[in-house]
Amino acid sequence: MPESITDEINRLKKERKAVILAHNYQRAEVQAIADFTGDSLELARKATQVEADVIAFCGVYFMAETAAILNASKTVLIPDASAGCPMADMITGEQLRALKAKHPGAIAVCYVNSTAEVKAECDICVTSGNAEKIMASLPKGREVLFVPDQHLGGYIADKRGEKYVLWPGCCPTHQRLTAKKIADARAAHPGAPVLVHPECPKDVRDAADECLSTGGMCAYARKSDAREIIVGTEIGILYRLRTENPGKTFWPVDDATVCPNMKKTTLENLRDCLRDLSPRVTVAPDIASKAKRAIDAMLAVS
Ligand code: 13P
Ligand code: SF4
Repeated sequence: MPESITDEINRLKKERKAVILAHNYQRAEVQAIADFTGDSLELARKATQVEADVIAFCGVYFMAETAAILNASKTVLIPDASAGCPMADMITGEQLRALKAKHPGAIAVCYVNSTAEVKAECDICVTSGNAEKIMASLPKGREVLFVPDQHLGGYIADKRGEKYVLWPGCCPTHQRLTAKKIADARAAHPGAPVLVHPECPKDVRDAADECLSTGGMCAYARKSDAREIIVGTEIGILYRLRTENPGKTFWPVDDATVCPNMKKTTLENLRDCLRDLSPRVTVAPDIASKAKRAIDAMLAVS
């Protein structure tokens, strides 16, 4: 009997002393074989706790880069090195330096969906799971630059009654959701609460009942008495929601809400990266040490 691909991955994982971390948007079969699945904050935290020599990171590049920054002594692998996040690439280090020069004395905050070079220029990072808490922890009375997601920044600014200088970046996947699609989903599933991600535009957030990180959505689903829940985010999360809550029904707002980069990881390239110990994610030490300050500042608050 030839070895199945899942047996091969599990064998390689042991041989390499590896751990597999997967984001909530990964393909179902990748989440199923992972040792730990979570949102960006949970995965960043997990990356500081693993004892394995090798981390196979099933997500997009900035997430693997964050794990590498937090674990300089470990080998961090990404099954497909071209799995980027278009939002993270909407601001460069040079653009951020120019913005900071225009706003001397401002606090620079970046969404974790950013490159290591951008993190290295920032005072602190946030994720969608801790942004409100982090923004509340900042010293009062100073101007705040928030990059690169205008929607997460706008959402927290509105919630806290504050104003930030917002970089006009966005997530192309969440940008496809509309208030009309939410209204249609509500009409199709009356009474079901609607959860959306803070990367959605304002009118979409306003049309929803809850605006949550992917980890927040999983927690909501576990606690809620609702038997049906409408979900406005990348559809990969439906696998986890359905697996963890077999008695409940989850409806996507739009089943075309797909992040093509999250879908680049497959069992085949996961197996290959464990076998070849490549592609490996590394960050230049000078950038990594500066970026680590911003990530550590975040982890210290959340
Ligand atoms: P979460 O941290 O909520 O999982 O979000 C990450 C992300 O990229 C959403 O598009
Ligand atoms: Fe980036 Fe959007 Fe994909 Fe998240 S869903 S990784 S923000 S492109």
